[in-house]
Amino acid sequence: MAPNVLFLSPGYPAEMPLFTRGLSHVGARVFGVGDQPSSALPPEARTALSDYLQVGNLWDEQAVVAAVRGWLRGRSLERVECLWEPGVVLAARLRQALGAPGMDVETATRFRDKELMKQALDRAGVRTPKHARARNAGEARAAMERIGFPLILKPIDGAGSADTYTARDAVEFERALALTRAVPELSVEEYIEGDEFTFDTICAHGEILFQNVCLYRPKPLVARLNEWVSSQSVALRDIDAPAVRQGRALGREVLRALGFESGYTHMEWFLTASGEAVFGEIGARAPGARLVHGMNYSCDADYFAGWAEAVCYGRLSQPTHKKYNTACVFKRAVGQGRIRRYEGLDALLARYGEHIPVVDLNAIGSPRRDWKSSVVGDGWLVARHPNLEFTLEMADRIGTDLRIVAS
Ligand SMILES: Nc1ncnc2c1ncn2[C@@H]1O[C@H](COP(=O)(O)OP(=O)(O)OP(=O)(O)O)[C@@H](O)[C@H]1O
Ligand SMILES: [Mg+2]
Repeated sequence: MAPNVLFLSPGYPAEMPLFTRGLSHVGARVFGVGDQPSSALPPEARTALSDYLQVGNLWDEQAVVAAVRGWLRGRSLERVECLWEPGVVLAARLRQALGAPGMDVETATRFRDKELMKQALDRAGVRTPKHARARNAGEARAAMERIGFPLILKPIDGAGSADTYTARDAVEFERALALTRAVPELSVEEYIEGDEFTFDTICAHGEILFQNVCLYRPKPLVARLNEWVSSQSVALRDIDAPAVRQGRALGREVLRALGFESGYTHMEWFLTASGEAVFGEIGARAPGARLVHGMNYSCDADYFAGWAEAVCYGRLSQPTHKKYNTACVFKRAVGQGRIRRYEGLDALLARYGEHIPVVDLNAIGSPRRDWKSSVVGDGWLVARHPNLEFTLEMADRIGTDLRIVAS
């Protein structure tokens, strides 16, 4: 029988319609709940939904639970799912209120609160950066005394590297404190020097059915602070390389320690110069920023539908063999105003075109985006090849030789 799945925010952000479609593709009846009017839902989402409930405020948990209960009129749910970071705990509350199976509120909260997350991992013996919660400047200074420099200040439940600052000395620390005054709770952490990677999985019943490791070039925080950077996330073909294996072993321990069962996970971790893998953060959701597309292109698979199959039926029939290193490259326009032209694209495509399955640039004439609030920026491309060095060469060329010019 077709499972009934309640999916939160089926139309937003960008990749959610594709997961909504994935659910319907594997035969689920999809009940969407979100704050968009149904007329604003992207077509992929609208056509995949069996029904949709618009709520006034998605973050008023009690009101959402009451509204959903009335709307369902006794229909039972096999799953309640959310792949958007701010809704992960709301989904758990709905499960609890409606008697649906899946991750409970306490477990979900450990995936949202970066302090509870790291406390649980410390108890399990996982290497985390030294850390503390700070609710005010006094607590932040006490944490700084204990942790030392360099350190990082960030929201306890942040996303997109927003309000995240490094401090290498007391002056930088006070400046970061001033800049984060509006953040209710901070996580103060030891700054880990090193390369940054992801560890992404699709799980069912606590088993990893699919796993992926991406290398970020450069670290997301560096990309967020430097406008000229064309950032890359590179899904690696060889996940058995020794350093990558370490990160995967760390990831497995993390999933076990946090009690993850079914669905997507997206972890970030660091590899230090001495070769140590250190935990960064984890979300109980799919990675954003086109990373699922990157995984799809690395295996010629569909992990939107693959996730849906895993949460609905506990299995994955998509291919999982990695054929390619796959670099997603994100471009930012140069200049202000509207996008006028693309420079260098034809030459790039003439040289590498057969290895570039995606060129998705904002249209000529459209306004350039605010580079600070969008990871995808003014467009993205995918370059893939079995050879890592060549993949990185193409990605770097896309970074340097393609210019999106605005004026
Ligand atoms: N302890 C740390 N040491 C070094 N760099 C860090 C540390 N914590 C955070 N960073 C940098 O800041 C970025 C943002 O931090 P984090 O991933 O915790 O927050 P986020 O805002 O939830 O991220 P996301 O962009 O994945 O939503 C990281 O990707 C990393 O580049
Ligand atoms: Mg992060």
